[in-house]
Amino acid sequence: MDKFIVRGGTRLCGEVRISGAKNAAVAIIPAAILSDGVCRLENIPAISDVTNSLIILKEMGAEVKRIDANTIEIDPRNISSYIVPHEMANRMRASYYLIGALLGKFSKAKVAMPGGCDLGPRPIDQHLKGFEALGANITIDGGMVGVSADRLLGAPVYLDVVSVGATINIMIAAVKARGLTIIENAAKEPHIVDLANFLNSMGADIRGAGTDVIKIRGVDHLDGTTYSIIPDQIEAGTYMAAAAATRGDVTIKNVIPKHLESISAKLIEAGAEVIEYDDAVRVFANGRLNKCVIKTMPHPGFPTDMQPQISTMLATATGTSIISEGIWDNRFRYVEQLVRMGAEITVDGKVAVISGVDELKGAPVKANDLRAGAAMLIAGMMATGVTEITDIHYIERGYEDVVNKFCSLGADIERVTTPSPIAKIG
Ligand code: EPU
Repeated sequence: MDKFIVRGGTRLCGEVRISGAKNAAVAIIPAAILSDGVCRLENIPAISDVTNSLIILKEMGAEVKRIDANTIEIDPRNISSYIVPHEMANRMRASYYLIGALLGKFSKAKVAMPGGCDLGPRPIDQHLKGFEALGANITIDGGMVGVSADRLLGAPVYLDVVSVGATINIMIAAVKARGLTIIENAAKEPHIVDLANFLNSMGADIRGAGTDVIKIRGVDHLDGTTYSIIPDQIEAGTYMAAAAATRGDVTIKNVIPKHLESISAKLIEAGAEVIEYDDAVRVFANGRLNKCVIKTMPHPGFPTDMQPQISTMLATATGTSIISEGIWDNRFRYVEQLVRMGAEITVDGKVAVISGVDELKGAPVKANDLRAGAAMLIAGMMATGVTEITDIHYIERGYEDVVNKFCSLGADIERVTTPSPIAKIG
């Protein structure tokens, strides 16, 4: 059993470099199968979600070459199967992008229903609605989603909810459809713009990504390309929150400050200082932070993927903070772990009320999911004493080299492997 041992109480100080964006990488890698040439992808984060996407592509017949830790080449020309069985797809939630990608490539796909973090119900009805609008027939049978069309035809698609995944999936499927697809009420997250830029660099014709209307004019052919992925907004936000939470002074490099504005605004409201540079932000805090009221929303609102980290930071702020979760039904499961560390937080449905305490105390806790795990790391660094975090595979899904990065800022975190109790008995 792998765990992190965090000895808390140090202020984080120094510089840290942010990796490529996970949620851009897990969309761009499947989208690369649409190419008629080799795609070289740079600034790819070294995290298990990326490794799993690449394994899936390899199993499908793509040639995948690792050039260095953060550069890969994908040659998808030998992919011949349009079926992705459960064992493969279940490795990660973003495997659902293979539905759009295979539909675009072969006009058909059969992909097992996706896995991923449990944040409450995660329907894909808007993805399917989009594929249907493009002319695909949908079947769901034995846990597999089947989509097929004689020829995909561009069409208008109005999304009933602003969905990152549906926007991406419909965009991927529509790139080679005949005619014009218009996605209305599209999501506007930075990785949607990044995916559009990647597809356009292969010869696609996509306009409006980053606004709520995206227009995709289908093309017959996509070339290979070389493309560098944007920095990870949420990884950057996590280090920003950790810097403020430990009353530290950290310069977070290789970021796009514009993507961080909603996070910077809340840190400033809480009393931290945030200084923006061209491609870096410096966050420092001297005393105790102040309460905040936060509601998570689609971009450019405050990101749900920063909600556990910022709530953890506010656990020791003065006054009462109120956090409303606007995206997921079940994203407060980590609160139980913080309460074990002395936090005073009550949750009613999608709202958490945080009464700031003087300090958190180290305790054994677990990572319920990726961002909850990041929150536990921050809590451990804020706390007095020792915090042991289990289920760290969730954290390693999305944070590159997390122990070394935090330790380079002065944190005391150790990754240990202990035999499971069953192995001990055996
Ligand atoms: N929704 C529907 N129908 C759909 C799709 C979504 O009702 O067909 C609902 C969801 O239930 C949810 C809301 O719409 O209430 C938004 O879901 P969205 O589709 O935007 O989420 P996602 O694409 O499944 C991505 C990120 C998540 C992040 C959300 C919201 C990836 C791989 N995942 O998920 O990231 O929380 O957008 O920003 O891009 C994470 O990185 O830790 C993570 C969970």
